Amino acid sequence: MIKPTASTRRQFLQTTALASLAVGTATLTTSTAMAKTSEPSALNIPRLETGRVESGVRIYDLALQNGTMEFFKGTSTKTSGINGAYLGPTLKMRDGEKVRINVKNNLKEISTLHWHGMHLPASQDGGPHQIVKSGEIWSPEFTIKQKAASLWYHPHLKGKTAEHVWRGMAGMLIIEDDESDALELPNQYGIDDLPLVLQDRNFEANGNMPYDPSMHFIMMGMTGGTPLANGTTSAYFEAKTNQLRLRILNGSNASIYNLGFDNDKSFKQIASDGGLLEASVKLTRLELAPAERAEILIELEANEKITLRNFGSGGSSGNGGMMGGMMGNNGSVPNFKFLEIRAAGTLEQSSTVPDKLVTIDRLREEDADQTRTFDLTMNMGPLVMMGLKNSHLINDKVMKMSRIDETVKLGDTEIWIIHNHGSMRHPIHIHDVQFQILDRDGRAPPPNEQGRKDVVLVNPGETVRLIMKFEDYADPNAPFMYHCHILEHEDAGMMGQFVVV
Ligand code: C2O
Ligand code: CU
Ligand code: CU
Repeated sequence: MIKPTASTRRQFLQTTALASLAVGTATLTTSTAMAKTSEPSALNIPRLETGRVESGVRIYDLALQNGTMEFFKGTSTKTSGINGAYLGPTLKMRDGEKVRINVKNNLKEISTLHWHGMHLPASQDGGPHQIVKSGEIWSPEFTIKQKAASLWYHPHLKGKTAEHVWRGMAGMLIIEDDESDALELPNQYGIDDLPLVLQDRNFEANGNMPYDPSMHFIMMGMTGGTPLANGTTSAYFEAKTNQLRLRILNGSNASIYNLGFDNDKSFKQIASDGGLLEASVKLTRLELAPAERAEILIELEANEKITLRNFGSGGSSGNGGMMGGMMGNNGSVPNFKFLEIRAAGTLEQSSTVPDKLVTIDRLREEDADQTRTFDLTMNMGPLVMMGLKNSHLINDKVMKMSRIDETVKLGDTEIWIIHNHGSMRHPIHIHDVQFQILDRDGRAPPPNEQGRKDVVLVNPGETVRLIMKFEDYADPNAPFMYHCHILEHEDAGMMGQFVVV
């Protein structure tokens, strides 16, 4: 008999672990596929909340609350939402305005609410340190210093972000500015300008939508077999204009979507996470990782019917083969139909959007004051499988509330180099800034990744270099976060803290 060496033994353990994960996924897909089918229903459009102005401050009221949703006719599901049973209103704000958001916690547990993509003081960011206790109100206040963009908000409680978002707490946040006004982009909310929060969830036969923090899902991220668009299953939208602007947010916990339309109908991406691109980019597929946003324009013919769907794994991911596809994560996202768009027989003609949109000041490598490296690693050993060791790490560490990992000087331009040493894809998010991607493995990013970003998907084996400038807000006592936006990875500790001083 051959005695296994340490390395073959490790390999064996890894293979066994992978095999059991593979079985887990297969079972899940089958059971959810059988779970529910639903009648087509009109796409829910979250209420547009423009706030009220009192002595120069625009004020919004939000309440985190539990509720009941009817995702499927006749079946009720326990959920959580913001000012409603599931998801929250779309907040509209304007560059230069001072805003205050009263966040009331009507849950029976603590939570937080974070303004994802916003440039603001760390103490107002709503990260894991800004806890809102049950029954209390937290009222952050800040001035919008930001380009027109589609941002979002969601809870960010340490160890609980994934569950709170899964239950339904998230919403979109639209920022407008003079540049976006001048472009005459479609901007009739709910008519030719639609927020689109894409998610997937698991439902049991009784309607329950349980959050399952099993080891499998901590490793792989929590995914579901039912697609939701703004919380609507089998959603359709009746278009009355020949052009639609979709503000798409991947609001899932862990799924990377590869979006497109039937018959490879093309569309134009006009904005990435942090605002408009320099020029629109014509695409037939758009890969969006958790927390990424893209604004797209699509043109419609009278009576046209098209479906926005997920086309499975993107292929540009560096996942090869069965194993790669599995651990490359989200190779296994089903061919979801998110939204059917039904164009009316006569369509109102909207104004044509120019190809050239805005000018983006490029940060230059030569101007960098500091370079930092972040190594993403994954542990797959037996201790991890038993839950005794953390699976996903940044620079070999798990997040600790009491530890500041990086100290940044106000006004500095920095290059952050992210190496992914693991075999899963990780969407890395940095608070406070909109960064620019310098390169992926030494190559310029594709045109739709050349704008402002706050999430970047880092593929297995890949090295991505980001450049950013830390401006306006310094506070040695309040840290900002950087983390993987697969929420189970974030909760498992794949997060670090930086202060700007
Ligand atoms: Cu979308 Cu740290 O968050
Ligand atoms: Cu964020
Ligand atoms: Cu991750």
